[in-house]
Amino acid sequence: MSKPTVYVVIYSTWGHIKTLADSVVKGLREGGVNAELYQVAETLPQEVLDKMHAVKFDIPVLSPKDLVKADAFIFGIPTRYGVPAAQVKAFWDATGGLWAEGALVGKYAGVFTSTASQHGGQETTAMTFLPHLVHHGIIFVPLGYQSKVLFDNSEVVGGSPWGAGTVANGDGSRQPTGKELEIAETQGKTFAGTILKVHKP
Ligand SMILES: Cc1cc2nc3c(=O)[nH]c(=O)nc-3n(C[C@H](O)[C@H](O)[C@H](O)COP(=O)(O)O)c2cc1C
Repeated sequence: MSKPTVYVVIYSTWGHIKTLADSVVKGLREGGVNAELYQVAETLPQEVLDKMHAVKFDIPVLSPKDLVKADAFIFGIPTRYGVPAAQVKAFWDATGGLWAEGALVGKYAGVFTSTASQHGGQETTAMTFLPHLVHHGIIFVPLGYQSKVLFDNSEVVGGSPWGAGTVANGDGSRQPTGKELEIAETQGKTFAGTILKVHKP
């Protein structure tokens, strides 16, 4: 039986989402599915990126039309004013052809996020990503409380039942913690379990 393939599709300016994505990919593979990591295309001019000290990642850029090749996706999205970064919106705005054909109907998707501050919008970013899925007929797979770390209030821990998350600090100085990476790995593993239940090779 062929394994289902999950694309982990990210945008990351400074690497927090990329670090979470590595744990999500690890969890997906542990869970028994193929996992491939991609990034969406950049939309900001290089001059602006230089001023932001943006980091470049050696990850293939996913063409929106190639979403059809995957059985499911997990999007990794940093917050911008409490909603997904515009690069992710631009990616979905280029999927009109797929939408017209219903090419993504019945596929599955999850989401994980990153914010500067603890209450900077992880859940609102996940929530405001949902209309893209709904309009395409894609089925949202939440993390739920499948990671017990989500109950840990002994320190700042990013993530929510919507999906994994990290808190980066305003200057980006905080890196994803062991607990946040554990949640991300659990998201990958439990997402794989859901996909394996419904996948028909
Ligand atoms: C224009 C802009 C808007 C942002 N808006 C928010 C926000 O609303 N809440 C928040 O906590 N962080 C906000 N941030 C911080 C980013 O979400 C944070 O730097 C990012 O999640 C780090 O992930 P990355 O290293 O993968 O890019 C904003 C950053 C930028 C550049």
